[in-house]
Amino acid sequence: SIDPNFEENREVVDEHEGHDVWGPVDEPEQLGIHGTHVAVDFDICLADGACIEDCPVDVFEWVDTPGHPESEIKADPANEPQCIDCMICVDVCPVDAIDVDAG
Ligand code: SF4
Ligand code: F3S
Ligand code: ZN
Repeated sequence: SIDPNFEENREVVDEHEGHDVWGPVDEPEQLGIHGTHVAVDFDICLADGACIEDCPVDVFEWVDTPGHPESEIKADPANEPQCIDCMICVDVCPVDAIDVDAG
């Protein structure tokens, strides 16, 4: 599951659609964590889609990640600032790929 202390244990290495990307990144096999307030570990996400279906404010959008060993699409927190901290995505992700910092 995603490391809840990723902000201490990782470095920002890139930006994507207005949010941070936390490394290490070694494309296409290793993609890191996208987002900070709503963080998705792309190396754990296997494209279940529950987060995209259930988020009440449509924070997530699919992005193509060809060549990644877990899945070739990922749920990207493209609309991170819209998050209302309901925690539904954290609860429904079957592989615990999402961390929402509601604190
Ligand atoms: Fe969407 Fe709620 Fe997850 Fe925020 S915590 S991204 S509002 S499902
Ligand atoms: Fe991925 Fe979990 Fe969403 S596997 S698509 S982050 S429900
Ligand atoms: Zn992204």
